Amino acid sequence: MPRNSLSVTDNRTGKSYELPIEHGTIKATDLRQIKAGPDDFGLMTYDPGFMNTAACKSRITFIDGDKGILRYRGYPIEQLAEQSSFLESVYLLWRGELPTKKELNEFTASILSHTTIHEQARWFIEGFRHDAPPMAVFLSTTAALSTFYRDGANIFDERCREIQFHRIVAKVPTIAAFCHRHATGQPLIYPDPELSYTGNFLAMMFAARNAKFKPNPVLERALDILFILHLDHEQNCSTTTMRGIGSSHCDPFTALAGAAAALYGPLHGGANEAVLRMLQQIGSKDKVPEFITRVKAGDFKLMGFGHRVYKHYDPRAKIIKRTADEVFEVTGRNPLLAIALELERIALEDDYFVSRKLYPNVDFYSGLIYQAMGFPVDMFPVLFAIPRTPGWLTQWEEQILDHEQKIVRPRQVYLGYGERDYVPLEQRPDASHRPAVVHSNG
Ligand code: CMC
Repeated sequence: MPRNSLSVTDNRTGKSYELPIEHGTIKATDLRQIKAGPDDFGLMTYDPGFMNTAACKSRITFIDGDKGILRYRGYPIEQLAEQSSFLESVYLLWRGELPTKKELNEFTASILSHTTIHEQARWFIEGFRHDAPPMAVFLSTTAALSTFYRDGANIFDERCREIQFHRIVAKVPTIAAFCHRHATGQPLIYPDPELSYTGNFLAMMFAARNAKFKPNPVLERALDILFILHLDHEQNCSTTTMRGIGSSHCDPFTALAGAAAALYGPLHGGANEAVLRMLQQIGSKDKVPEFITRVKAGDFKLMGFGHRVYKHYDPRAKIIKRTADEVFEVTGRNPLLAIALELERIALEDDYFVSRKLYPNVDFYSGLIYQAMGFPVDMFPVLFAIPRTPGWLTQWEEQILDHEQKIVRPRQVYLGYGERDYVPLEQRPDASHRPAVVHSNG
């Protein structure tokens, strides 16, 4: 009997099976040998939301949710936020090692030289309604880029993947800023190669036409830190989407658009926007206890709280809280901060949140900073998507090069009708006799 294995006895047949354990997992396909009868396909696992299923082996990002640990390529997020820059962290995540000075200079120069987008891509943005949400325009435009860079489909060509990585990482802030300028009816500001990655983004967002924009160094650094914190977060909903779409071997632009779409929802990257709207809706500190009562009654969720993996304070939220103080020194305190602090204070003492291990996540405070910096609320999901883009691409590349990966195709537990005969239209009974459609398995 192999020592590192799981013994399973099927009580229906009395047969025993040895399932090898590797890296703390058993292979779901090893369960297939357990059959109830000759026609039985074999045992499957049922895991909605992938609560306990590892879909890949990865060497990129490590999270220990119980201890509140997050590391990129082994480096603690706290050290990177304190000492690294966004582009250096991008290089680290993508290439696996911190760059030398020469490598960083070349990488930075290359990214900053690819920031412009094709003029015709600009027309897509301008074709949207003036009040189209910037995130919807952003993800549509990233998909449209695949039509400009047809070579992106050569996904097994290493140099080609490298070119797309540089292009995409360089262009997403430009697309994002153009989406904002379009939504607010302002003339577009083109990238300035003399500015840093985040400084350039701030300029494209906020510069007045024909005026040289000098980003405030505190805000520029704060945005750089926020970008580092959002760079990657292993197999979350949008990254899983990126890998899922990528598993069909489509080009990275198209996969990226799908990942950005997955990020958009309020349970994921749209949560920062939802937090801000929630704080605005609460309105004042004295309304917080009443709001918490309604959350506990199940009327709505406390947005920016809770996480599938973290059962401890999200380490990113801790860093963001510190960054917020530095930003507010420059911009003045966001008046909604008092409500957020009161929500956190009450929630962290309340048994409902304590027993469920619900702590503030990355989105709880990030929106307050973004708002203080002048970003409109509907840009918040886009501000998540820009720095997550290199994370998605790194995960996508790991998937492409992983020989154990296959096209994503989960199984299902079919609970619907067995075979039944088609009934011609004139013979169908009145709809009032039809059994109610069952939508839920709960
Ligand atoms: N407010 C109130 N109750 C909550 C919350 C919340 N924010 N989050 C979870 N719960 C409750 C939930 O109702 C459930 O209670 P019960 O056991 O009585 O049914 C219990 O806690 C477990 O929650 P769950 O929904 O099973 O947990 P999950 O792992 O499926 O969901 C989550 C994780 C992040 C989707 C969820 O916590 C949530 O909806 N939070 C609010 C949205 C949010 O802030 N999202 C941003 C996540 S961090 C950024 C990112 O990476 O996306």
